Amino acid sequence: MRKVRFGIIGTGRISDWVLKGAVLDPRFEAAAVCSRSKESAEAFAAGHGIPRTFTDIDEMASDPEIDAIYIGTPNHTHHDLAIKCMSHGKHVMCEKPLASNAIEVREMIAAAKSDNVLLMEAMISTLSPNFRMVQDRLKTLGSVRNYSGVFCQYSSKHALLKRILAGEDDSPVPSSFNPDRSGGALMDIGIYPIYPMVTLFGRPKRVKASILTIDVPTSEGMRPIDLQGSAVFEYDGMTANAVYSKITDSRLRTEISCEGGILSLDQIHITRQVEFIPHGAPTSGRSSGPQKEDVTVPCDPDEYLCEFKEFIDILESGRLESENNSLDNSLAVAEVMDEIRRQAGVRFPAD
Ligand SMILES: NC(=O)c1ccc[n+]([C@@H]2O[C@H](COP(=O)([O-])OP(=O)(O)OC[C@H]3O[C@@H](n4cnc5c(N)ncnc54)[C@H](OP(=O)(O)O)[C@@H]3O)[C@@H](O)[C@H]2O)c1
Repeated sequence: MRKVRFGIIGTGRISDWVLKGAVLDPRFEAAAVCSRSKESAEAFAAGHGIPRTFTDIDEMASDPEIDAIYIGTPNHTHHDLAIKCMSHGKHVMCEKPLASNAIEVREMIAAAKSDNVLLMEAMISTLSPNFRMVQDRLKTLGSVRNYSGVFCQYSSKHALLKRILAGEDDSPVPSSFNPDRSGGALMDIGIYPIYPMVTLFGRPKRVKASILTIDVPTSEGMRPIDLQGSAVFEYDGMTANAVYSKITDSRLRTEISCEGGILSLDQIHITRQVEFIPHGAPTSGRSSGPQKEDVTVPCDPDEYLCEFKEFIDILESGRLESENNSLDNSLAVAEVMDEIRRQAGVRFPAD
């Protein structure tokens, strides 16, 4: 079997993380890396044993020795980079969120279809072994009545943002808090509870969000960016909500409540442990009833392995789309996030 030869765009922390998982799939080959700077490309290539380096995306994307491209750059660059790579006939795995907004996602989907290539959002949450187990088990638990997804992770960049806003640091606003880079808590963190919700239950009919924003300097003057949020979603026959933050941590579990019981996930962005609490399980020590059960399945040796396994499985099977990270799921998530940003008043240049 021939390996899938990947070109990597971007030499930041995330490219480093995902490569460590990707190389565990024997069908993966890191064939080249592209950076805006020759020095970064060479340092990254040396660190990962990558044979070739580029500083020009078109050159790497048109290289016949490369089959697929992984895009690990800031959100506002995904659309143009992905379309460029697809136009050269390359399959593309693009970091989450797939693009800045639904308009861009639609254009990327149209390009994937007309170029006849695989385009997949690198959303690990919906590809992990424990998420797939939850997805299967839900089929046996009767009607789903509520989804509560949580991901709150204090950002190490928040202290820097506070110093920038206090005039104590001249650094640029970090990507994840920067409207010019299509950042903010929703795009960075909130997507993690929302994407699995859409994968499991489809597009919500309505969304109502409560968002905490702060004004930051942008190319269009001071503009709001979101720091954390809470959104309620309307579905037929069930309710759903998502809570996310870049300025607090949380250890609240994600729960899916069904008529047959509750599936309780330790965390939604990368689920490592799942409990099943059957209907009628005791809530006090004096009651009796069915006991909760640990239904966790073994995790992969590296959490990023699952997205490369999925991508290469799809190519090997001759398909051009992931079932869980489908183009329509990516579009539905982008539409939901556009609406939440509209309610919060968070605008990007790409809008
Ligand atoms: N899946 C996950 O677990 C996870 C975790 C964190 C982040 N992410 C996603 O990964 C992406 C990158 O996030 P990050 O925080 O790592 O971003 P970042 O540090 O701002 O940028 C990552 C790399 O992209 C390149 N880059 C920066 N600005 C660019 C520009 N204007 N045009 C082209 N390339 C540029 C740089 O590499 P060069 O200097 O080599 O060009 C940089 O090191 C985002 O979409 C984010 O949502 C995913």
